[in-house]
Amino acid sequence: MSQSIKLENIGCLVVEGNEGLDCKYGSSLTIEDEYIASIGSGNADTVIDCKDKMVTSGFVDSHTHLVFDTLRIEEHKLRLSGASYEEIAKKGGGIVSSVESVRSASPKKLFDKGYERLNRFLSMGTTTIEAKSGYGLDVESELKSLKVINELSDAHPIKILPTFMGAHAFPVEYKNKKDEYVSLIIDKMIPEINNKGLAKFIDVFCEEGYFSVDQSKQILEAGKSAGLIPRIHADEFYNFGASFLAGEVGAISADHLMKIDEKGIQSLKENNVVATLLPGTTFFLNKDSYAPARKLIDNKITVALATDFNPGSCHIQSMPFILTLAVMKMQMSIEEAFLGATLHGAQAIGLEDEIGSIRTGKKADLIVWDISDLSEIPYYVSNHPIRHVIKNGKLVFGS
Ligand code: NIG
Ligand code: FE
Repeated sequence: MSQSIKLENIGCLVVEGNEGLDCKYGSSLTIEDEYIASIGSGNADTVIDCKDKMVTSGFVDSHTHLVFDTLRIEEHKLRLSGASYEEIAKKGGGIVSSVESVRSASPKKLFDKGYERLNRFLSMGTTTIEAKSGYGLDVESELKSLKVINELSDAHPIKILPTFMGAHAFPVEYKNKKDEYVSLIIDKMIPEINNKGLAKFIDVFCEEGYFSVDQSKQILEAGKSAGLIPRIHADEFYNFGASFLAGEVGAISADHLMKIDEKGIQSLKENNVVATLLPGTTFFLNKDSYAPARKLIDNKITVALATDFNPGSCHIQSMPFILTLAVMKMQMSIEEAFLGATLHGAQAIGLEDEIGSIRTGKKADLIVWDISDLSEIPYYVSNHPIRHVIKNGKLVFGS
């Protein structure tokens, strides 16, 4: 049975304008089934009074590591006493320290933890996420993680786009035979994932001490041949040529980019790669090198913003807080930051025609706020003034 909702008395309806975003005042919006049916006219079964407050598109978080088991609070404490992420990783912490618990966890345990995290994402206005495997690092546990991601997407209102990231780190048993692990990814993991249709994207941590440019290229090319779309964790700690590789393999997005150089910038630009910036990671790691957002925008590169939510380098789920960091630490305007967290995030996962902005015919993924204007979001920092969240035309948060 078709169901319809009308949002009435909208103060500022944030829509796409000719250049950037526009605020449409005093409007209404009608939702039919999953879609935005009309703006400014129409009737519906259910009416929501927006009390002259702002209505926007829901957030698209295009970079998360949703599925993990245990937290890594001890590492964070060490960082607060001056140790760096890289030092902690060299001493056996970092990504590999999350592997054992994921390998031994039941799918139900991973599902339940993921579901709880999804509820938190939703309460902060996120309606779509990308989620990576990458804490299993063997065939069975990578498949288990991806199955859980797919099941969560079916069970929860938030839509999840799955990414295979067996190339997140080298598991300890392959420490001295790294090329064999690369072969395991290419010869076993990718074909199995492809056969079962478990992922849309393939990601690699191309970084000093992780996967070399050459290994990353082999893995991404193998993924591409199996129909997976490449994306890269690029130039996070060192300038490593990973952004250049992103352009070369035609990645949909290159993420992190704190250490990107001119050659990398040109490669992203020439090959239409979205630059996904993760300021929460710089903040959480207690560093001060934020990605060069202004330079990327000035070069007409599409800049998206995401959380990088994971147990080690960024335990942050809030997109409004990421917006706050973007405007305070990366000199982005609030409009640029909001576009980065919505439409450009959608572009980073190939869904810009379906979600990420308010337009008739797009999915009705919406936030009804308790504030009047986008520029008020950073003022609230961590106390998000969100009244309702609507996903696929259904009221899923707030009553
Ligand atoms: O995106 N940079 C690589 N991977 C994660 C770190 C994950 C972890 O430490 O568990 C990231 O920051
Ligand atoms: Fe990441």
